Amino acid sequence: MKKSYQNIEHKREDGSIWFNDLKRKREEGPALNKHRYTEFSDATKSVHAGQYDDPNTGALGTPIFQCSTFYLKETSYQAIEEGRGRDEMIYTRYGNPSQWSVQEKLSALENAESSIVFTSGMAAISSTLLAMLDKGSHIVSSRDIYGGTYNFLYEDLDRYGMSVTFTSPTNIKEIESAIQEDTKILYFEALTNPLLKITPIKALVALGKKYNLRVIIDNTFLTPYNVKLLDLGVDLVVNSATKYLNGHSDLIGGTVSGSRKLVDRIWPQMLKNGGSMDPHACFLLERSLKTFALRMKTHNANAMELATYLEAHTKIKKVYYPGLASHEQHSLAKSQLKGKNSGMISFEIEGGDTKAHQLLSFLKLPKEATSLGGVESLISLPYNTSQASLTKEQQKAIGINDGLIRLSVGVEDINDIISDFNQAISKTFKS
Ligand SMILES: Cc1ncc(COP(=O)(O)O)c(C=O)c1O
Repeated sequence: MKKSYQNIEHKREDGSIWFNDLKRKREEGPALNKHRYTEFSDATKSVHAGQYDDPNTGALGTPIFQCSTFYLKETSYQAIEEGRGRDEMIYTRYGNPSQWSVQEKLSALENAESSIVFTSGMAAISSTLLAMLDKGSHIVSSRDIYGGTYNFLYEDLDRYGMSVTFTSPTNIKEIESAIQEDTKILYFEALTNPLLKITPIKALVALGKKYNLRVIIDNTFLTPYNVKLLDLGVDLVVNSATKYLNGHSDLIGGTVSGSRKLVDRIWPQMLKNGGSMDPHACFLLERSLKTFALRMKTHNANAMELATYLEAHTKIKKVYYPGLASHEQHSLAKSQLKGKNSGMISFEIEGGDTKAHQLLSFLKLPKEATSLGGVESLISLPYNTSQASLTKEQQKAIGINDGLIRLSVGVEDINDIISDFNQAISKTFKS
């Protein structure tokens, strides 16, 4: 990477290297129209932030800039030479107004200086981590991490001369004792899958400060609607946009947000990995984000009602939901999420996996599918989906018990969802 920027390194008048120049001013691209709506709430930002109304036609709403390349101008050549390709219309893998538009909306929602959108959550995670690590670096991460991330950390880092230690996501003492001399990153998920454990973000950020480490958090399960992690001192937030951010189960995407300085470091890694989001997917994501706050409000409210119903049901052994007083970290959830919640619920049914499978077959509304965060309720069993790559012993160790069901509560009418569970549980225990 250094090599390709070598000519630039020698060009700067003050002798600084562009890549590390912390004072580098943001160059505004054509779609970066200061549409941050910073003084407004999430519902307003969701609708308006980042939108690029075409000045030529007066069309309201961001057009789909479905092109791979752009006419080169004097300013483009200059930008290429100075390594500022990120903000110029040159080539879509580098940047495209459709990407900038949705990146501005995301930055507004995350309270971030800068964001990048990727082809998938995994593209965002792998590019972010590779950009932030050097040969020999060590990461502390969580045993409860998403399977794809676990595989990347466990199987691939070693080949790059890096290493990882997995700890509990909730035990700060264990996390601290895993820190080594060459540790560079604390990488966790704000709300874990499937047991909905809450990572204590403030304590993690304090550890990061104490040991001079970067704190990077995957916020896919909570989203910036439920917690603004950058405001809590986290350095970088990644999301699988496939889930709540897009919310319609019709695209794969990923995001990273943070300071311009750090996000600018991830951009060249994204170029090399080739993971920049296609303009049409950008359009879908920006359009979906317009209802983001509306959707999240309903996901949260529906999940709270359904969790309360399930907890009171005699055939349900245990419900995992941060909004319930029975959740082990309920008080942390209250303070960290400031009254917000989560749209995800996990619960254990009497009769184990056999009864769990029967329940799924009797439900009419929740679709039996992996993934989460769609407008439709989605239901699955972690043992044979998200945690299938773990051995039975590993599943037990992280609390994946027989009969555990994961539910992403959709935005259907909550009375319909509850009636559906009522009839399906009755049929399950009659059969
Ligand atoms: C918490 C979390 N992070 C990251 C990912 C990966 O996202 P994608 O499938 O968009 O690559 C997932 C996918 O399920 C996830 O659940």
